[in-house]
Formats: sequence, structure tokens, C-alpha cells
Amino acid sequence: MRDRYCGETTAELLGQPITLAGWVHRRRDHGGVIFIDLRDREGIVQVVVAPEQKAAFAKAESIRSEYVVQVKGTVRHRPQGTVNSHLRTGEVEVAATELTILNRSEALPFPIDDEFHDVGEEVRLRYRYLDIRRPEMLERLKTRAKVARYLRHYLDEQGFIDVETPFLTRATPEGARDYLVPSRTRPGSFFALPQSPQQFKQLLMMAGIDRYYQVVKCFRDEDLRADRQPEFTQLDIETSFLNETEIQSIMEEMIKGLFKTILNVDLPAVFQRLTYADAMQRYGSDKPDLRIPLELVDIGDLLTKVEFKIFKDAANDPHSRVAALRVPGGASISRKEIDDYTNYISVFGARGLAYIKINGEGKEGLQSPILKFLPDEVIQGILERTNATVGDIIFFGADKASIVNEALGALRLKVGQDREMVEKSWRILWVVDFPMFEKGEGRLSACHHPFTAPKVDSIDELMKDPTHVLARAYDMVLNGSEIGGGSVRINSSDMQKAVFSILNISDEKAEEKFGHLLTAMKLGCPPHGGIAFGLDRLVMLMTGATSIRDVIAFPKTQTASCPLMDAPSTVEPEQLIELGIRVVKGVKEGGANGGTQQVG
Ligand code: AMO
Ligand code: AMP
Repeated sequence: MRDRYCGETTAELLGQPITLAGWVHRRRDHGGVIFIDLRDREGIVQVVVAPEQKAAFAKAESIRSEYVVQVKGTVRHRPQGTVNSHLRTGEVEVAATELTILNRSEALPFPIDDEFHDVGEEVRLRYRYLDIRRPEMLERLKTRAKVARYLRHYLDEQGFIDVETPFLTRATPEGARDYLVPSRTRPGSFFALPQSPQQFKQLLMMAGIDRYYQVVKCFRDEDLRADRQPEFTQLDIETSFLNETEIQSIMEEMIKGLFKTILNVDLPAVFQRLTYADAMQRYGSDKPDLRIPLELVDIGDLLTKVEFKIFKDAANDPHSRVAALRVPGGASISRKEIDDYTNYISVFGARGLAYIKINGEGKEGLQSPILKFLPDEVIQGILERTNATVGDIIFFGADKASIVNEALGALRLKVGQDREMVEKSWRILWVVDFPMFEKGEGRLSACHHPFTAPKVDSIDELMKDPTHVLARAYDMVLNGSEIGGGSVRINSSDMQKAVFSILNISDEKAEEKFGHLLTAMKLGCPPHGGIAFGLDRLVMLMTGATSIRDVIAFPKTQTASCPLMDAPSTVEPEQLIELGIRVVKGVKEGGANGGTQQVG
């Protein structure tokens, strides 16, 4: 039906006959001559239909945007002065001799051409096949395919074996809710869709596969954000007989090669490493965006005796923190902006946002609602510690350490973006030395996942003070986004049981849920470790998209639904009967109690 893509009809074909097929991007009538911009996935070529070509001209008069047509004609030079150097096909046009309408199109719900302006995501997703016709979306999907191809190729070359793992499986804890699938053959039982292939890839190491990878869908029922989807794609990797630095260096080579090949960007020869503790202290975040040249500074030690109670209390409590964030040139930030920032960080639990503006030299030059509470030498100490100079502002946070970190960490990003301080560069790093456990709602949970090896020499050492034990875990962070995370794994069943016990999982429960893994660990389990990259996030960053939805062909909305297929949907009563499931009416949408009931 065609000789080549519209977008590849270039000057080397001058004078040759050609057959093209594609979509009518635009049709223009120019004093008797009809111009058609014919589009396909590779771009646009200009087709000219002259009135002398009677049959073709009659058809050209009837065509509308997005008709699918076939054109036969000759490639010729565009007339002088009409060459478009921005277009790959900009030197040529196709003089049509025949035109066939392959299919018509009704008026579209939104234009595909340059007049596209955001019609709202719901509409874009409902008509995703139209949205993807837009060059911007096509380009992103093409880049995604190239990224996946590069990564697969790299890993193939390094001796990794691509192994598929099941989707119908058991719950594996990665910290989100599971998507469940009822079993028909065992009524009352459910499969869980994997939050990641974590246990399978470890079992593959125990199987002797040695190096595994998979580009794989993972399913997590969690609150969605711009960089989270309920089903997303991981580049999942596991290796045997390598320690964390060896694993990291293979991954660095892979990511460096990827950026060089796809974007022609040179990432640093060796990636920076930052401990979790340093990251929290300096940036208030375990995924710091190093493109923003602002840092938090601890000042608690200066404030243990001041009369300002909020500061003093936090300064004297080991679980609290008083930190300062100096913004160079920030004295020009208005009262209203400061109020907005105060509001902005209140969602993290911050009860206020104290500040000092340094408008001029000396004490008279300072402007602040907290000056009256602070002795001169303390103020002097703060100015020195933060390196503040005339024209700056210093923001303060005093509260539980987690609140200060979240609030000032977020403020750092917001102020950096608002004041256009974000460097135009790629800042990539490893965050290492994560704590093994974090406290939540009174009990401990795994910071990474419960299969991560603790940095200890013995179970005794682990049990003595679990909250201070570090994990052999590492995250790769790019421009403030966690693009990958992994760890060296536990490979002894005793250590695994000890970790479970700290997580409040009894030996009995552990045997029930993870017996397969505990057994395998006793039957010849090599030392092993790995990592998983968020492919969607990686591609989002590489294409400059602002949401991972823009690099996924058919993503879900913020409420985890698909407007195109209208999923999720109700099912036929017969299907439910077969599964032994009864739907309970009146459960609120997204309700915590669930809406289905198992029939006994
Ligand atoms: P983790 O849970 O850190 O590790 O996931 C790995 C990477 O996957 C991406 N990611 C997501 N992307 C989009 N939407 C989501 N909801 C989402 N959740 C995670 C992130 C993240 O860095 N089994 C371990 C890996 C290992 O230890 O080897 C795991 O899944 O980019
Ligand atoms: P107040 O005496 O409560 O009016 O607070 C004086 C200043 O301290 C105001 O600018 C508040 O926004 C600020 N502030 C109050 N609580 C905190 C806190 N926990 N951390 C930082 N600043 C605070």
C-alpha cells in the first residue's frame, strides 16, 4: 500500500514515483491547488493536488482532517522560497496523480495538529489512540522502546538471562496493598498480583541462574501521584556472588551507556554516594535533588538555652531537630510568599515557618518575628553557621526530626523551583546506608523490604538494637527522583527469621507465608543481591515528561481507573457465583472495608 513512511520522503527521492499512505493532518485550498499535509508516525510530507488531476482533485476536495488516504505521485522540489528547513521532508513535495480514500473520520474530540492544547487528561485518556497520534506522544513511546532495547541489550551482553515470573502469585511485601484475583478452582482463595518479582528472582538465584533480568509489570494498590501508577514497569535484576559495590558498578555502566546512547549525555565516571543520614541532614530527603544548591544546616546546639520555647524544646529533644535553610538573595521574598510557604509546609505537620531576613549590615539590618526571643550571640552564631550575607533569608524549622525533614526538604525544592535555582543538568547519585527498619504506628517495618541483608556480623548484633542497624540497601536517585532501589539479600534462614521476628512476624506466620523461601535458603542458597529500576520514571525523566502517565501508552487515572476501557467494571452475576463472591452494596468507593463478600 505504500513505499515508505511519509516522514521519510526526503530529497534523495527527487524525481521518483512514490506511493504513500497516512492521515490527513491538514488540508489547505490555495487558489485552485489543494495542499495536504500527510502524516504518519515518522512525520509529515506535503502533497500537492492540482486541478488538472481531475479525479484526485475531486477526492481531495472532499477529504477532512484525519481521513486515512493513499496517494500516488512524484517527488519533486518545493518551489523556491517554500522550503521548510525545520522539516525532514521540508525540501520536497509529492505531486499527486492518484488519491484513494482508505477510510473517513468524523470530527475529532480534539485536534491532533499544532492547535492541540491540553483538553484535560480524562479526554486524552478516553481517546488515547488519538492522543498517541500526536508527535510528542509518539516520540515518548519511541524513546521508551529505545531505552528498553538498550537496557535489554546491555544485560544480555553481560550474561544476564531474561526469565519470566508469574503474575498470579502470593502477596510479597513491598509496602503497598495487593491487587487480588479470586481463584475459581479453590473458592475462598485469592492470588495476589506481584508488587515485584522479589521472591521469584531470589529463588532463581537459588536455582543457579546466577544473573537474571526481566522487564516486568508490577502491581501496587497505593495512593497515586505523578510518578506512581497502580501497574508500572520495572527493569528487575538479580545477581549471585557479587557484593553491593560490584552490583552498583554494573548498574552505573548500564545507566551511563544508556544516557550516552539515547541522549548523548555524559554522566560522571563514578556516581556520587551519599549516606541516608547525610541526605536527610543536608537535604531533608532520601532522594535529594542535587540540582538545587540549597542545604539544610543544623542549629539545635545553639538554641538549647533560648527562651523561645518551640526552638528550645526541639533543641533539647533527641528525636527533634532545629534546622535552618539559607536562601541566597531571598530577602526579596515577600510577606505574602512567606505566608504561602508556611501554608505549603503545613501539610507535613509544620506548625510554623520562622525566618530572618538580612536586609542590611548589623542587627538593625535584620528583620524577623523571632529576633526578640534570641540573644545577640545566638543570632550571630546562626548567621555564621549558615554563611548568611546581606540580601539573604534564613528559614527555620523546629519539630520532630521527621517533620522538619519533610517540611524543609519540600520547602527547599519549592523555593529552588520558584526562584529558578534548578541547575540544567543531570545529577545522579547512590543513597546508601539506609536504616534497616523504620518506626511506624508503634512497630517497626522494613525500610526497603524484609529480604534485605542487615549490616551486621551476627544475629545477636541485629537483635541487640535493631533500630540502629543499617541495611545493605542502595537507591539510585536522578534529579530528585528515585529511579531504582535494591540490596544485598539475606541468604540464611536463621537471619531471615530473626528479621521477620523484629517485624512482628512469628515463626509460625513466617513459615506459612514464606516457608518456600526459608526452605530454599537451607538448600544451597548463594550470596545474592540485586536492584529494580522504575522504567516509567526513568523514561519520564529522559523525555522531560512531567508525569509517568505521559510515557505509558494506556495509563490509569489518579483514581486508578481506565477511561478508555472503562475499567474497573462490574461483572456478570454468573461470574461472581462461579467464584463464590457476593458484592456488598453500599460500600463507599475506594472503601477500606472492600465491597465484596465471600460466600461460604
Ligand atoms: P522498589 O519498591 O524500590 O524495589 O521499586 C523499584 C523501583 O520501581 C519504581 N516504582 C514505581 N514506579 C511507578 N509507580 C509505582 N507505583 C512505583 N513503585 C516503585 C521506583 C523504584 O525505585 N523488589 C525491590 C527491588 C529490589 O530490591 O531489587 C523493589 O521493588 O523507581
Ligand atoms: P509564634 O510565637 O507562635 O507566633 O511564632 C513565631 C514565629 O515562629 C512565626 O514566624 C512562626 O511561623 C514560627 N514558628 C512557629 N512554630 C514553628 C516551628 N515549629 N518551626 C519553625 N518556626 C516556627
